Amino acid sequence: MKKGMKKLVAVFMIMALTVAVFSACGGETDEEGTTVKIGIIQLMEHPSLNTIRESIIEGLAEDGYTDGENITIDYQNGQNDMSVMKSIVQKFVANECDVIIAIATPAAQAALSETEEIPIIFAAVTDPVDAGLVDSLEAPGANVTGTSDEVSAEMIMDLAKQITPEFKTIGALYSSGEDNSASVIAGLKEYAAENDLEVVESAVTNTSEVKQAAQYLADKVDVVYSPIDNTVASAMASATDVFNSAGVPFYVSADSMVQDGGLATYGIDYTVLGKETAHMVTEVIEGGNPAAMPVKKMSDMSIYVNTDTAKALNIEIPADILESATVFTSAE
Ligand code: TRP
Repeated sequence: MKKGMKKLVAVFMIMALTVAVFSACGGETDEEGTTVKIGIIQLMEHPSLNTIRESIIEGLAEDGYTDGENITIDYQNGQNDMSVMKSIVQKFVANECDVIIAIATPAAQAALSETEEIPIIFAAVTDPVDAGLVDSLEAPGANVTGTSDEVSAEMIMDLAKQITPEFKTIGALYSSGEDNSASVIAGLKEYAAENDLEVVESAVTNTSEVKQAAQYLADKVDVVYSPIDNTVASAMASATDVFNSAGVPFYVSADSMVQDGGLATYGIDYTVLGKETAHMVTEVIEGGNPAAMPVKKMSDMSIYVNTDTAKALNIEIPADILESATVFTSAE
């Protein structure tokens, strides 16, 4: 071997070692060879996705699988970027992860695009069929299944009718790049057509566009609605600033979005969803086949209201709603 070549080989070996040390899906096998390697890919960091991840890890521990004991968890943040997510999953594949947990729709899509063999359990995918992840909810069919947080636009609009009955126009604020939002917005349009309401759309491609998209809607519509959209969820402060000062009720689709200043929603409990996801991961670790494990939808729903936002908008929340709601106040 030539000297230059030797150097190159040495450099590669060091690189390979570094990868082995720093990317944990390569968790070492213990004496009995029972350590299960789990890669977690999360679309981005926002409060709801963080809650889901923490609950999954807790749920796994409840099932007897603890990081550093009998499982190794390699958590990676996808930074809301498809190419970042694809390379994360490529590393999981190269490191021979036993299971991949994908949190949110685009993360699950990235995972499925990189492996048809490693079981993928997704968390909080709004519409797994529409996102091209499963054949059907009952029989997913391939190496992927998980939990869904679907909530229809209609249910939230029904709540909106009880809180602010007079609206005629609905602004739709969402990200055009998220399949999880696309199918819900289609449902919103159907609802509007049936109820003689008008929808004005304002779609964004990233978080930095949310403020402007909100401003576009603020003087055109009576209320604004956002689906379970990751991009909007991570820019709630800019959106609520605009809507609260313009006096526009902002209906959202997840508890965290109400906590972050949205007026109200009818939504699921993401702590429960995280635990359910963990149980599905456990089932796969213990030999379950994702192709035959139905997608789990969450059935327990509740109303969430932000009373500080209501105050800022001069809206009185009906007493019967307040009674059954989880109330957030946000210091703004
Ligand atoms: N359902 C979203 C998806 O399919 C992910 C998600 C979970 C989410 N919790 C949320 C998005 C809260 C916005 C707000 O990608």
